[in-house]
This record gives sequence, structure tokens and C-alpha cells, in this order.
Amino acid sequence: DRQNPFVMVLFGGAGDLARRKLFPALYSLHRNGWIHPRFAVVGLGRSARERQEYQSIVRESVQKYSRLDTDTEQDWAAFLNRFHYVSLDVTEETGYQQLKQEVERLEQEWEIPQNRLFYLAISPRLFGDVVSRLKKVKLTETNGWRRLVIEKPFGHDYPSAKALNDQISQSFLEEEIYRIDHYLGKEMVQNIEVIRFANNLFEAMWNNRYISNVQITASETVGVGERAAYYDQAGALRDMVQNHILQIVTMVAMEPPSRLKPEAIHDEKVKVLRSLRGWTEADVAKRMVRGQYTAGLLNGSTVPAYREEEDVPPNSANETFVAGKWYIDNFRWSGVPFYFRTGKRLGQKATEVVIQFRGVPQNLYFNKNNDLAPNLLVIKINPDEGLSFQMNAKKPGGEMEVVPIAMEFCNNYEEGSPEAYESLLHDALEGDRTFFTHWDEVSLAWQFIDPIRNIWDQNDDSLCFYEAGKSGPQEADDLLFKDGFSWNTPQ
Ligand code: BG6
Repeated sequence: DRQNPFVMVLFGGAGDLARRKLFPALYSLHRNGWIHPRFAVVGLGRSARERQEYQSIVRESVQKYSRLDTDTEQDWAAFLNRFHYVSLDVTEETGYQQLKQEVERLEQEWEIPQNRLFYLAISPRLFGDVVSRLKKVKLTETNGWRRLVIEKPFGHDYPSAKALNDQISQSFLEEEIYRIDHYLGKEMVQNIEVIRFANNLFEAMWNNRYISNVQITASETVGVGERAAYYDQAGALRDMVQNHILQIVTMVAMEPPSRLKPEAIHDEKVKVLRSLRGWTEADVAKRMVRGQYTAGLLNGSTVPAYREEEDVPPNSANETFVAGKWYIDNFRWSGVPFYFRTGKRLGQKATEVVIQFRGVPQNLYFNKNNDLAPNLLVIKINPDEGLSFQMNAKKPGGEMEVVPIAMEFCNNYEEGSPEAYESLLHDALEGDRTFFTHWDEVSLAWQFIDPIRNIWDQNDDSLCFYEAGKSGPQEADDLLFKDGFSWNTPQ
């Protein structure tokens, strides 16, 4: 099944995701020979476009966003020659007939054995409709493979996610559905498993006897941008926590899979999700924090408050920041808090996972604060990709002074690491679902998140405020202080 020829049917074919991520990803995969040389792409969009115009869009996007240097004219021609365009109103059947003819024509022209990748880079409210119509015109009846790649958000709560899943399940089997969580495509997120399962040093200590707490930070400097219509309804809880943060938690906490196979890994992740401690109203107040940014100074310029942003209602009670303390009630993690925080308009773009180890049983050395710094393993996901391990060592000199030192490793590939989308698109084309979210993960994630959402929605007082450009609300720091910890400051 490896590296077989295919046709990619791209809904949202001239949209933002296609331009910024998907064309550059296809370009890298093609240039590096990581996909079959016989492939074609049919981009779909509402506007009428000549093929040449579409090819120019592809070329400009690659030139602007690709991590690779661009090619000679001859190579360009060979790459762009694969791109075709069909204009279609996704809610009307006529366009689908035309699409079908185009796909069949390309399969003949390129001798492609009906391997079809349907990629939905469009508004989620259209997902169900598009999938049913693909089935109706029999585009989903193939002699080769068919796969559906579907962007987030997958529903906005458990009932809506279930309804969507029921609908797409009428046309695609679960193993044909590739739900994107782009965090799973990030190099250092994929590396969490390797660091754990390929190093006895860490694996032996990866439990409540040696780990005192886990901290996950995903902070952003950007504000709501032009996405208020979506974001003001979703909030940071649905936008970042239900998917990305929970997926990172499962990667950190899962048991070693028996084999490196998607199903084995998936089963272990599901067990973690089932072991998360649930919620009462009092728990939510105690263990969860939600905040919204007010105006502030960020990188030298003043930025407006969330409520003053374009298309945001002036009294919006939506959160742009969430922090929390979760417990995984199983043998390995009993009593270990998993703290996380994520928000917009914070002082720094930084995504990292910090494993804080417990102290030694008895401290023989005392530094100036009469205390030893903890061992910390910092997994840096973004913008730096690397690892840092903090340990204690003697400071050179006559006095026996113990100081923290750090061993650093940084991913430093000449061409830059592959982007998340490059890796995910590659896996979808190869039929590897390891780094995609399966239905039970999505379903359990919503069932864990929904009670928090419901409690918050009934109580606007749960919202606190933080100044843009800082590190988030005091309440998020207090979550840790109360337990005698503090957030690691990303370097
Ligand atoms: C997306 C969210 O899933 O992730 C955005 O919808 C957020 O709101 C983005 O900005 C963050 O991704 P990254 O890769 O920049 O950390």
C-alpha cells in the first residue's frame, strides 16, 4: 500500500489552509520523493477560475510559505501540471457530477487506480453535506482506497460530534476517516513517545513515585484576528483544550503500547481519557480557570482588549485563556497533578511540556535558598524544538555550592523540520492513522469537556481578566502556588 498513486480532491481548494499549509506540504513531499510521482489534485471552490489562475495561486503560495527553496522553471511546470480546478457550490449536486468526471478523467490520464483522498478544508457546518453528496454521486465507490481527511472542529460538543460522526460513517468506515489535530503532526509532540519509550532512564521514572507534577503550556501572542465569528462561540476551551491539550496529556500519560501500531497506541490513549477525573461544580471552580484579555502592551505596541476586537460583542463573556489542574486516576498517575494553560495575547509564543521530578529523599546540600532545584525535563514544541534537562551540579570553587545546570538539545535541521501538515498529509496518503484522532478519542474528549463548558456557561462570574502581553491571570499562577509549585517560564 505504500506510496501509491492518488487523486486528492481538495474542498476549500483556494482557501487559507490550502494556501498556507497544504500546497507547501504537497510541494515538500513531492520534492523529497515522499509521495508517488503519479498524483493529481482537484481543487474545489465557489468562484469560477481558469486552471492557469489556480496554478498561479498554488505557485505563489508555495513561494511564500514553503520551507524549501524553490525550483527551476522546468520543475515548477512538472509540479503545477498536477493541479486542476473545478468550481462547485458544495450544496448543489451539479458540481459533484462535474467533479466526478474530472476525477475519472485524471485517473485515466495518470493511470491512477482510483485511490482517492478527499480533504475537507472547509467550514465544519458543510462536512456532513459534502460527504453525503460524494456518496450520492458514487465518488466514494472506488476500486482502490478512499480516505476522508477532515479538519477541526469535529462538533462543538458531544451530541453534535456524534451526529456528525453518524453522518460521515454512512459513507466512510472509521479506518478511512483521518481527523486532523495538527498538534499530533508536530515533530516534538511525536517525539514524546520516543523520549519515553526509547530511554530507560525516563521510562523507569515516569510515574507518581518520581514525578511531582506535569505542566503543559501553549501560549500565543496572536489575538482573535479575523476569526471572531468562530472563536467567540468556541472559546479557548473548545479551540485548544478539547483537542490539542488533551492529546498532549494522553501522549505523556499513556502506557507503552504493545506494538507501534495505530490501534495499539489508540487503545492506550483511550484508557487515559477514561481515567481522567470528572467534574462537580465545586471542582470546576477549584481546578479550572478561564480568562479574557484586556488591552495591553505586546512587543512594544498597544493591543486592544478582546471585547474591542472586530466582530466581538462588547459584552462577550468568551474566554481567550484557560488553565486547569487535572488528575488521571490510575495506578501510574495517582495524585500527580497535570497542570495546563493556554491563551491568546500572552507575552510569548511558547508551547512546551514540563515534567517536574520529585526531590531526593534527603537533601545533603544546601544552596543559597536552602533548597535544591527540581529535576525538570522540558520538551519544547514551539517555536524552538528540543529538549532541556535540568539537574543539580557543583559550582566550581571552594564552597560546596550546588546549582542547577541544563543539558540542552535542539532540533537543528538545515532545511527546517517538516511542518505538521507535511507529516500528516504524508501519513494520510500512506494510510497511517497513528497521528490522527479516532472517534472514541474525540467522543471521550467531548464528554470530559462538556460539563466544564456547561458549568461555565451558566456562570459568567467564572471569567477573570488578564492584561495582554503578560503571562495570564493571577488565578492560573495560584492553581500551582496552592500546591507549592510554580510554572516553568519558557526560555
Ligand atoms: C488552532 C486554533 O487549532 O491552533 C488556533 O484553532 C490556534 O486558535 C492554533 O491559534 C495554534 O496552533 P500552533 O501550531 O500555532 O500552536
